Amino acid sequence: MAYTTAAGKGPRGLDRIESASRDEISQLQLERLKWSVGHAYRNVDHYRKVFDGAGVHPDDIRELADLARFPFLNKSDLRDHYPFGLFAVPRHKVVRIHASSGTTGKPTVVGYTQRDIDTWAGLVARSIYAAGGRPGDIVHVAYGYGLFTGGLGAHYGAERLGCSVVPMSGGQTEKQVQLILDFQPDVIMVTPSYMLTIAEEFERLGLDARGCSLRVGIFGAEPWTGAMRHEIEQRLGLDAVDIYGLSEVMGPGVANECVETKDGLVLWEDHFYPEVIDPETGAVLPDGEEGELVLTSLTKEALPVIRYRTRDRTRLLPPTARSMRRLGRINGRTDDMLIIRGVNVFPSQIEEIILNERVFAPTYLLEVDREGHLDSLTVHVEWPAGAGDGGAGREAAARDLAHHVKSSVGISVRVKVVDPGALERSAGKARRVIDRRRR
Ligand code: DLL
Repeated sequence: MAYTTAAGKGPRGLDRIESASRDEISQLQLERLKWSVGHAYRNVDHYRKVFDGAGVHPDDIRELADLARFPFLNKSDLRDHYPFGLFAVPRHKVVRIHASSGTTGKPTVVGYTQRDIDTWAGLVARSIYAAGGRPGDIVHVAYGYGLFTGGLGAHYGAERLGCSVVPMSGGQTEKQVQLILDFQPDVIMVTPSYMLTIAEEFERLGLDARGCSLRVGIFGAEPWTGAMRHEIEQRLGLDAVDIYGLSEVMGPGVANECVETKDGLVLWEDHFYPEVIDPETGAVLPDGEEGELVLTSLTKEALPVIRYRTRDRTRLLPPTARSMRRLGRINGRTDDMLIIRGVNVFPSQIEEIILNERVFAPTYLLEVDREGHLDSLTVHVEWPAGAGDGGAGREAAARDLAHHVKSSVGISVRVKVVDPGALERSAGKARRVIDRRRR
């Protein structure tokens, strides 16, 4: 049995389903959900065991809300079945394998059938279109190629849309600048932190980044704030649009912002069913409330995920530019949350303050330590290039920043202002936190 198809183009060059009625979308989701849960149960021992253990069966799904009775899938389940134990198709049907880096222990391995790859390419093409990319555009891909899903995911989607793709991958920052100047791309796909590194390289070479050919940037793979969007748009003179995804669920293109509204990530609900839960109790929260995002794949063949706990914190918002619901900006992962002397702190809160001050360079590093029994947080920021040595101004700026963090986040921090260029630059996902308490 195959899942229900819903192909076809609608008005404005959109996939027809993007502007379908909510009833039609829910109906399609229900049909596909029944298929996906049944497919997982029939073909993956793990799902059969945990569904039976919880006393639930695919036939129990009569409406979308019935999914809430099913057990969650955790990242540890993928690790426990390393490498191919959760695949729902014979290994020879798997045409592609990716893996997440996994800083601790084994990486998480994911697989795709040919049809999964086609679906993924279609959703990334839809995402690029939503961001303002058009057939015929040149797309510079600076997400890493390889086991990471960013590079190849973006690549296949851009080709599917009918673009000319420059598969630059991450790193070699000077060459990134050179190719942007020589090939004149319209669109760039890259992490927001690496986009800033590229912008700095333009400036270091005495070139005008604002005057470059780029019209649209499609940024994701790491948390970034509204203040960071503003900074990037100012420095590069382009529309900065958010893209979301994760390898376990597919890769980039699970959700994407529309350039005309820039009001959150439209979740491609014809292929993924979202729930937001209270991370402590597991209870499903009503739309609008912030919690942990849980995703269920509706069409994936090789690696169906049923109620995958993403650990990403966000909320579900009503549809605007498309008929599908949106995700609020991903504020970070539940596991990125720092608890400093009992106060919950997200790195993104500090980022927002640093960037809004417009005094320091838009890069930072948070260092957490324990002194005696007390947690301490040091915020490392960089004095901007071309602002002289700052003298006493640096001290005053550090005091101001500490004051703003105290008044809006509620914790006392130490601010260290380092010289221009002293903080490590990312060529992919930026490392924003060093937590020495975990040693
Ligand atoms: O980062 C896939 C991707 C590639 C997305 C390119 C967008 C662009 P993973 O390496 O598995 O996959 O990491 C997934 O990255 O659970 C989030 O915590 C974070 N993340 C991804 N996109 C965003 C975003 C790719 N737009 C993890 N905002 C996810 C905030 C994001 N966090």
